[in-house]
Amino acid sequence: MPFAFLVVKSKMTTTYSLKNFIDDLDRITRTESSQEKIVNAAKPLLVRLVQQPNCIEEQYRKRGVTAYGRYMLHRAPLFNVSSVVWGPGDNAKAHNHDTWGMVGVIENEIQETRFRRKDDGESADRADLEVTAVLKNKAGMVSCLVSPNDDIHEMNNVSDRDTLEIHVYGKDLTDMPRLRFDIGSKTAKTFASPKYDNC
Ligand SMILES: [Fe+2]
Repeated sequence: MPFAFLVVKSKMTTTYSLKNFIDDLDRITRTESSQEKIVNAAKPLLVRLVQQPNCIEEQYRKRGVTAYGRYMLHRAPLFNVSSVVWGPGDNAKAHNHDTWGMVGVIENEIQETRFRRKDDGESADRADLEVTAVLKNKAGMVSCLVSPNDDIHEMNNVSDRDTLEIHVYGKDLTDMPRLRFDIGSKTAKTFASPKYDNC
């Protein structure tokens, strides 16, 4: 019986909650301003969080009515944390973020294509991109974005079931102008993410 008690106690003390992650990120973003340093410090923490399948409440794990689900979990001045639920076939064509970011997979997997911009970015509507990697990000994995040189990607759920992720960004993307790219025609258009499903 003492052994059983010890096992339970050990599991309880190793739990890392969404609140723990938010508290740690709050500390990191208040002490670091470099995007690389923030991401390097925060990535292992997000890895730890997404390795716990129940780290997000049930209401934030559902697909949206007409598109993939997006729920704001925490908004702070220097960062925000949201959940995203991609259904089979859901995708987001190549786009930039204009901030640092992290995408952690909690359930299932996502195909992420990463791009590098070959042109100088001076033209408002022209953009020449090349693929740098096509990744299969599985549960427990975290992918990082650092702007302006490594923050362009495309997401595709090529599986037959929902994929649940946590996204973390250094800016609130709602209504923030950024770029969506058409790789074939080498064009760029300004777009902005709509409000989240819960706010
Ligand atoms: Fe993205």
